[in-house]
Amino acid sequence: MQRPLIIALDFPSLQEVNGFLARFSGEHLYVKVGMELFYQEGPAIIHHLKEQGHSIFLDLKLHDIPNTVKSAMKGLAKLGVDLTNVHCAGGTNMMEAALEGLDQGTPSGEKRPHLIGVTQLTSTSEQLMKEQLLIDHSLNDVVVHYASLAKRSGLEGVVCSSLEVPLIREALGKEFMTITPGIRLASDDKGDQTRIVTPELARELGASGIVVGRSITKAVNPLESYSRIKKGWEGVLI
Ligand code: C5P
Repeated sequence: MQRPLIIALDFPSLQEVNGFLARFSGEHLYVKVGMELFYQEGPAIIHHLKEQGHSIFLDLKLHDIPNTVKSAMKGLAKLGVDLTNVHCAGGTNMMEAALEGLDQGTPSGEKRPHLIGVTQLTSTSEQLMKEQLLIDHSLNDVVVHYASLAKRSGLEGVVCSSLEVPLIREALGKEFMTITPGIRLASDDKGDQTRIVTPELARELGASGIVVGRSITKAVNPLESYSRIKKGWEGVLI
């Protein structure tokens, strides 16, 4: 996987997805299907996007008992997505079970989807963690700890903020993937995200991939916004 720029297709229907993608005619994109779209359109949306040649991150952030996660992953593996995820907070047994499910469900001769773990959501602040979740450690320590549990469970990387990438690379090596949402252009509204960075900074910090939603999907000109973000991410001087 070459350091992708992943567009979060946070839309409620196939119709809106088609309207959005029509602006990118012919371009093969890396797209993320999350809960909003998958719960409305189901597996058919994955087949539809695959037919158009897009790479797919299925972002359903599974978090349940190990047996349930394993069975769910067995089913999801049949969809042929490139990347999918679980919450690291489910623990190592759950993450190992997820991997087993993916292995068992991947049709023979096909590539198993890469599996990564969500450390702490990029909308979570240290204050929320302390006051609501009663986790009395620094956010950085928790993220690096969750990432090390993911690595120990055989996962290939994590979802985290770009701000945590240097620490994770130092602790777990450069090969361990860091896929980072919470990306904003300097002029953008930060919305509900708290740990945000620009595409240029994500690149400098060494992220393996970035996930961008509203800065592209809600832009007045999504195509223009996409190419600006892509240039920043790829280090092309504007
Ligand atoms: O619109 P925005 O760029 O904030 O969208 C970020 C996307 O990344 C959303 O689809 C969100 O669900 C997802 N995500 C995240 N933080 C994580 C994991 C996934 O924001 N830790």
